[in-house]
Amino acid sequence: MEDAMKVFKEFFELPFEKKSHLYTHDENVKCKLYTSSYNYENEEIHYWRDCLIHDCAPLKESFDLWPRNPPRYREVVGEYLSQVGKLGSRILDLISEGLGLESDFFAHGYNEDFFLTVNHYPPCPDPSFTLGLPKHCDPNVITLLLQDIVPGLQVRVDNEWQLVQPRPNAFVVNIAHQMQVISNGKLKGAEHRVVTNTEKSRTTASYFVVPSKDCILEPAKALTQNDPPLYKQFRYAEFMETYKALSTQEPENLLEPYKFKKEVI
Ligand code: OGA
Ligand code: NI
Repeated sequence: MEDAMKVFKEFFELPFEKKSHLYTHDENVKCKLYTSSYNYENEEIHYWRDCLIHDCAPLKESFDLWPRNPPRYREVVGEYLSQVGKLGSRILDLISEGLGLESDFFAHGYNEDFFLTVNHYPPCPDPSFTLGLPKHCDPNVITLLLQDIVPGLQVRVDNEWQLVQPRPNAFVVNIAHQMQVISNGKLKGAEHRVVTNTEKSRTTASYFVVPSKDCILEPAKALTQNDPPLYKQFRYAEFMETYKALSTQEPENLLEPYKFKKEVI
């Protein structure tokens, strides 16, 4: 984890010429560097963040897409991702045990696709003007976030923003939208955002555990024997289209189109 964080920081310290070729907002590019969000053209406010994003699945095949600089990036990040991938599967196993689902529940399309974003938030002259990342809930299943010692992540608890204090050698595990659907609302997608500071740059890395595009999401059958299902079936790719189009809305609204409406008699 320490080595990976070092390499991530080294990447953002590279001179502009060594990383400018990766700079694009083109959706089809599988390893790229961009500023603010993927919605740069349409967003009202830009965010104080640079982001390196790349695929990690299948690990061996995506290796060649990753940055060549710093020279140890591929080796260190390859090892990091292989370990974080195992940790992600282990956490999903424990969550399925906790929810009372069959032990290989998440092996069926939910733990299929992976990508990494490395976020860099430079010191911001006036943090009251913008955020590092706006409030959102991650669209996937779970996210494993590595943060350095500089704080900035906040999570919404009872309508208040609370700082998630970084702990050495620990991951923050986010429950994301699809886990809320699968668990039939037993686990809630965590609303979070990133604030900036005037003094120190901050680097983080998010490992997203993502369902396959064709994965059908719905509450797990084992959880709807006694309780009615809260959400209808949908394809993950369909959800992602709404997510990208509506991402400035309240995070909870994104699941609204898939909710069963209560009938008024
Ligand atoms: C994200 C995210 C938090 C952070 O990448 O989705 O919420 O602290 N990152 O960088
Ligand atoms: Ni997030």
